[in-house]
Amino acid sequence: MPNRFFFIFGGQTYKYKLMETETVLITGALGQIGSELAEKLKSIHGKENVIISDIRPRNEVDYDGIYEVIDVMDADRIKEVIEQYNIKTVYHLAALLSGTAEKNPLFGWKLNMDTLLTFLELAKDKVIDKIFWPSSIGIYGPDTPKEMTPQNTLKTPSTVYGISKLAGEYWCNYYHQRYGVDVRSVRFPGLISWKTPAGGGTTDYAVDIYYKALEEGKYTSFLKAGTYLPMLYMDDAIDAIMKLMTTDGDQLTVRTSYNLGGLSFEPTELAEEIKKHIPDFTLDFEPDFRQAIADSWPSSIDDQVAQADWGYAPQYSIEKMTTTMLDNLKVKLAKN
Ligand code: SER
Repeated sequence: MPNRFFFIFGGQTYKYKLMETETVLITGALGQIGSELAEKLKSIHGKENVIISDIRPRNEVDYDGIYEVIDVMDADRIKEVIEQYNIKTVYHLAALLSGTAEKNPLFGWKLNMDTLLTFLELAKDKVIDKIFWPSSIGIYGPDTPKEMTPQNTLKTPSTVYGISKLAGEYWCNYYHQRYGVDVRSVRFPGLISWKTPAGGGTTDYAVDIYYKALEEGKYTSFLKAGTYLPMLYMDDAIDAIMKLMTTDGDQLTVRTSYNLGGLSFEPTELAEEIKKHIPDFTLDFEPDFRQAIADSWPSSIDDQVAQADWGYAPQYSIEKMTTTMLDNLKVKLAKN
């Protein structure tokens, strides 16, 4: 039976036709996006149809569902798991983020690039049908217009992460044009969430700040005041993935990757929001190497194409995000 689900945005109810119930694989599933995407996909496809994978051994993983250990550099292991479960859709999230990749550029390039090509080849060979692969605002660079950066503009990435994501976007487009591969992508801004911390990104301060606000009442930001960056609350990011993946392919005009906007703020503004809940909270600054990365990225993003093609419509304001983060983290930290 085809699976359908409903959701509401802009006051209207929209219906999305999902793919027939199918088996999906998430790589890098223990990361910030994967841990939340897994729960969403289980609610749609059923627990038995969602295979999550990461590099950690099973006994270190607290997850209710099917978990397979996969080192994404091992293409044979990937094929083995795909065949074992007859997987048709892959959410390929395993990657090194901007900060981590700068510490080991050649490995960052290899991991981010080789693994994408493994899945594109599997789709070309019709072993799998569909791929979701996240790109990033990291594809933009110092020559890119900073405010409301348009979908198509100068892209001059200055990090290995950005270079790998930009090359990846063009590989996706190439495989789509040449072989008809159904690969879909969005350029994520900084993602804010409470369930799993971010790991190794330039935008991570906007997650760390909430933990430190609750634990210590103060935070030292590695980005300086006034550093505006595009950001998005995780629920909106997951909703974007689901909308993109359930839209008819012929409606998609972009097969590199879609710009996604959402929020745009800088550390002091975020601190002001937190002070509404924790009045004594203090913020100071010790910028590190990530400041230069942040300075090279846009401060806000124009996402009209994503709105038009598949109804992208983020819901969270900085106020709603802050209340949600603090309420949930309070409970989480009390349990630890
Ligand atoms: N959040 C990511 C990073 O900072 C951007 O895609 O690396």
